[in-house]
This record gives sequence, structure tokens and C-alpha cells, in this order.
Amino acid sequence: MDKKKRILTGIRPTGALHLGHYVGALETWLEFQDSYESFFLIADYQALGDNFDDIDKITDSVRQVAIDWLSVGLDPNKSNFVIQSYVPEHAELTMLLSFVTPLGMLERNPTLKSEIDQLAVEKRTVGFFNYPMSQVADILLPRADLVPVGEDQAPHIEMTREVVRKFNRIFEPIFSEPGIKIGRVPRLKGTDGGNKMSKSKGNVIELRFSEDQVNKAVMSMYTDPNRLKATDPGTVEGNPVFEYHDAFNDDKEKVEDFKTRYREGKVGDVEVKKDLAIAINNFLRPIREKRDYYEKNPTLVEEALMAGTDNARKIADETMRMVRSAMKIDSYTSRW
Ligand code: TRP
Repeated sequence: MDKKKRILTGIRPTGALHLGHYVGALETWLEFQDSYESFFLIADYQALGDNFDDIDKITDSVRQVAIDWLSVGLDPNKSNFVIQSYVPEHAELTMLLSFVTPLGMLERNPTLKSEIDQLAVEKRTVGFFNYPMSQVADILLPRADLVPVGEDQAPHIEMTREVVRKFNRIFEPIFSEPGIKIGRVPRLKGTDGGNKMSKSKGNVIELRFSEDQVNKAVMSMYTDPNRLKATDPGTVEGNPVFEYHDAFNDDKEKVEDFKTRYREGKVGDVEVKKDLAIAINNFLRPIREKRDYYEKNPTLVEEALMAGTDNARKIADETMRMVRSAMKIDSYTSRW
């Protein structure tokens, strides 16, 4: 039997996951966990980048993210859930790779650039600046073949490929260039119509939301601002209500009918939104049930994390031996 290919992907534990995570990433991970040897990383080192002063948030989010994963159906019997800092080789590989990585690679990374711009000055640390480097190490430590991520992560994967080429050229060709797989909906809009979803903006629907919370969030969703009454012709394109219908309503015919009537001014926002709230609640119902179960059985959550992290540690040890040997930093005295 052919050896399974590996995927590695991750999330920083800085809050509960939301619908954007689902269609942008988790859905692909679910699809891949059967055919790939999978490593799902809770990137707490990376979370420390801008949350070093709020360890309670990280602590709670590590648990929350693990429960989110279990609730959507990621299966610790098939996949490895890994806590990044429990595998300190992540830090070692980050440092070793940084020696072959020109500053320019980080300086021109557009995702990093826009994140730093939004950061308070006292949080613009060396560690934060270096987080894409640590992400390269995350991917190379298990020698992943493929990285399923959201669109904003593409520059980091490109950087990984560049670092692989440099490392292989300078030392020994021990790494292969990983591919990237972007999710079905690369960038779901916030409920406020904005392009950036964040909990602090209150524009997300979390996977753990109750029916009531979903109803409230959907009914207050941004729609076509130029449409004052239900008989005005409305715009569907770029309208988050329809974007969410497309993403979460299985009844495609009904969605198309809503779109036609909306464009013609023959359906009100309230009707379209009520139906969307129903669709999202249907989607979240089984997820909520599993969440209840794991909330009541925290030892299962802990066991999942420890088992996956143990497996990751073994592979990390293997890779680091290869790296140190390729760099010849494991044998000074024997080469005297
Ligand atoms: N940067 C990713 C995020 O913000 C998290 C992450 C950390 C990651 N390490 C990774 C993603 C490695 C893919 C591969 O969600």
C-alpha cells in the first residue's frame, strides 16, 4: 500500500471558530482526513505573537478550538490534534530556518504587512514579525505535502516553498515543496458586510452560537443598503445574506428563487433572512449536539490533544535529526 501523503494545517487559539472557518478551511480538512495523514495544529506560539499578555484567552481558546474541531467531525482516531508548544522542535526549526531566510521574504509578505499595520506599536515584536517563519517550520516539521488553508495564508505557503528551495540548495535536499489547497469559500464576509471577520467587530456567527444567537445575528445582517422597501429591486452580488445562503442553504432552487424575486423587488429582506437563519440553524444543530457531549467529557478532549501531540513529537524528532545532519551541526567533534 502506498504511504499516505501528509497534510498539516493550523489555527491560532485566540477565540472560538466561526462559519468563515468552516467554509474556508474546516470543511476541506474533514474531506482530507480520510485520505491523508493529517496534523491539525493549535498554534499557541503564534497566538502569543499578539496575545502574550493574555494567556487566559489562549488557555481557554486551546480548549475551545479542540472542541470546535471535535464537534464538526474531525476525528482524533484518524487525525492528529497537536498543541504547537508541546512540541518544542517547532521553536528549534524556526530558528534554524531563519538563518537561510532573507529579511525581504518577511518584509514583503502582504498578510504580515497588513497585520502589523493594524497592531498597536507595543505589540510589534520580533516574535510577531517572525510568525510566518514559525509557520514555515510548522509545515516542514511533519514534512507535509499539502496545506489546506484560507486564502489569506497563501503568502506563508509561498514563503515555505521558497525556504525549502534555499535550504535544499544550501544543505541537503531533505524537504519537498508543499502544495496549497484553498477552501470552497475563500473569504466569507462578516455579517456586517465587511471583508474581515473578527470577534471584536461582533460580525461573526460562531459555531457554538445558540439558535437565538443565530437568529439575532442573521436578522441584523447587512444587506443591500440602497433598498428601502421590499418592492425596490435589490442587489444580490456582494450581499452577505445571499453569500451565506449560497454557503449554507442546501435548497439551491429556493435560493435561486429568492435571488430572482429579490432582484425584481418581490421579496422582503425579512423573509430571506428568516429562511437563512433556519438554514444555518439546521447546519449547526448536529455540531451543537456533539459540542454538548464534549463539554461534558473534557477528558476526551484532553486525550485527543495528548495523543496527536505525541505522534507529532515522534515525527518532529525524526525531522530534526535529518535537519541537524543536513546542516552538519550534529557532529562537530566527530569531524575533527
Ligand atoms: N496562521 C494560521 C491562522 O492564522 C495558523 C497557522 C499556524 C497555520 N501554523 C500554520 C496554518 C501552519 C497553516 C499551516 O489561522
